[in-house]
Amino acid sequence: MQYAIVTGDSRGLGEAIAEQFLGKSIHVIGVSRHSNKELSKLAEKYDGNYTHVGCDLSDPSQLEKGIEQVVKQVTHNDTHFIYLVNNAGVIEPIETVGNFHLQDVSKHMMINVTAPMMFVNHLLKEANDHSITTAIINITSGAAERSVHGWSVYSSSKAAINRFTETTALEQEMADKEHKIIAYSPGVVDTDMQKEIRSSKESAFADLDKFKALKEEGQLNSPKTVAAVLMDLLNDYSSIESGKVYKLYDLIESKA
Ligand SMILES: NC(=O)c1ccc[n+]([C@@H]2O[C@H](COP(=O)([O-])OP(=O)(O)OC[C@H]3O[C@@H](n4cnc5c(N)ncnc54)[C@H](OP(=O)(O)O)[C@@H]3O)[C@@H](O)[C@H]2O)c1
Repeated sequence: MQYAIVTGDSRGLGEAIAEQFLGKSIHVIGVSRHSNKELSKLAEKYDGNYTHVGCDLSDPSQLEKGIEQVVKQVTHNDTHFIYLVNNAGVIEPIETVGNFHLQDVSKHMMINVTAPMMFVNHLLKEANDHSITTAIINITSGAAERSVHGWSVYSSSKAAINRFTETTALEQEMADKEHKIIAYSPGVVDTDMQKEIRSSKESAFADLDKFKALKEEGQLNSPKTVAAVLMDLLNDYSSIESGKVYKLYDLIESKA
């Protein structure tokens, strides 16, 4: 039996990724604050199953309980493979350095860094105890590798995820484990996160007009396309390089 744990499945990219796992008849466990009725309906249509675990990833006690509940549900004797997609993420605070509030930075780091790290930590331990192989996908951003005015918190959290991905892959390889862990950078995707970006103040985000133009010019990728490119990569499992940061545009180009 195979499972796919997808955080942030209630909307945006996470919803599209969950839909495509369900399309492959893989049991999806979604983790977010809000449930997703469309995914429940879709699970009925396909052979797969869908379970939602309500969890605010910014709350340490909810995070701990949520991880425990999810990992327990997927690590049993009939399981041979588990995908974990650490997709839930926030961009706020969009603000220049000197204007942050502790609570906002702390919440951001809990969702974007601590939660994915702890999901991977707990899953790998239990998967090894049960001889289950895993494929872990951490959703990152191009902002991890370049500085964007107003996005220092977001760039830092995504840079941390890239380094975490690489280090975990190194450790698994040195321990002779078959798990693969990658980061996936999805380009600009037409989701609520982009709406938030477009509604920020120009004083806090100098590229505001550029991002408004991307939407007006129809240059945002659909979540469905971005999820499909990830699925193609996962289908070619043996070619996946653990520890690598895969980029949507490179993957599209390599297929052209
Ligand atoms: N959109 C882009 O252009 C873009 C570009 C590069 C990378 N990314 C990355 O792609 C991933 C998905 O982003 P998206 O664009 O799909 O964003 P989105 O539409 O804003 O969706 C964010 C998801 O994260 C979940 N989430 C947010 N706060 C949470 C919390 N406290 N606890 C639990 N879940 C929480 C939300 O669920 P609930 O609200 O139900 O909790 C939602 O399902 C993120 O990691 C983002 O950094 C996006």
